Amino acid sequence: MNKPSFLKDVLDGLNSNPKTLPAKYFYNEKGDQLFQQIMKLDSYYLSRAEAEVLSTYSKAIASKMQDSSWEIIELGAGDGSKTQTLLKVLLEQQSDVIYRPVDISAAVLDQLKKRLAKNLPQLPCDPIASDYFSLKLEPSSQQKRLFLFLGSNLGNYTQKGILAFFSLLNELLKKGDQLILGLDLIKDPNRILNAYNDKEKVTAEFNFNLLRRINEELGGNFDISLFQHWATYEPVLQEARSYLISKEERTYEIDKGKYTVHFNAWEAIHVETSKKYSARQLADLAKENGFEQTAEYQDKKGDFIDVVWAKL
Ligand code: AVI
Repeated sequence: MNKPSFLKDVLDGLNSNPKTLPAKYFYNEKGDQLFQQIMKLDSYYLSRAEAEVLSTYSKAIASKMQDSSWEIIELGAGDGSKTQTLLKVLLEQQSDVIYRPVDISAAVLDQLKKRLAKNLPQLPCDPIASDYFSLKLEPSSQQKRLFLFLGSNLGNYTQKGILAFFSLLNELLKKGDQLILGLDLIKDPNRILNAYNDKEKVTAEFNFNLLRRINEELGGNFDISLFQHWATYEPVLQEARSYLISKEERTYEIDKGKYTVHFNAWEAIHVETSKKYSARQLADLAKENGFEQTAEYQDKKGDFIDVVWAKL
């Protein structure tokens, strides 16, 4: 992790009104483990629902890709577990496929590469350890590109982030290339809220990990026991939001006292937004950003959607 930018983001966020911290800093080794635990919780339906979509519809997706050889580029691939079913089917239907998972964590890509070498040894896998906003790709003459952005990751972007993400995609994708986006659908607000407010309190721990990182990596002295995790779902904005709320008035130090941050009693830090979509909104989003939504696949319950967009 690049310490100066982490420090800058933390100071900018905690000196804003209202206070914020970027959710991307949840993910260090401990945060990755907590997220793995979240994905196994009964209340966190998203990962299971997307796994069902991909296992049910991988053949349908792959059958529409037989016209060319493909480079599969997965943005924010993580451990790649979401994608293995699709890759397997693609490989069965199409011999000419190469998989390029992109992730900021070289360690996680290493694990992914080892697992794929064991489970799908015929699949060429060429990981790219990079922040995908800095991704540079050579022009590809013969192969088309299929980009994957799964797991409702787009839901964690702010409006500004979404614009930046689509302008990146417009640079990376050429006419005929495709994108599969996986997103959580709007549904009974109780179920959405429970997904971010589990009784096991793993999501709370996941959020507290941000303060723990500031203490460990940036010389902070936050008293985590004096913060409360608070999750909400706002049905008009279609956003689940997570906050860390200071139960007492306190001043905390960062960088061993070089900086201080004051909290009023019950003042909140907004730490994450997880936006939910309808299928119709996604088709509109495709049009607004130079794509056409050519297919959409949902799990049986209608909890999660994977849409296919073609670059126009
Ligand atoms: C990674 N991301 C899509 C998750 C989500 O649902 O927004 C992160 C998460 N936050 C709390 N639980 C899971």
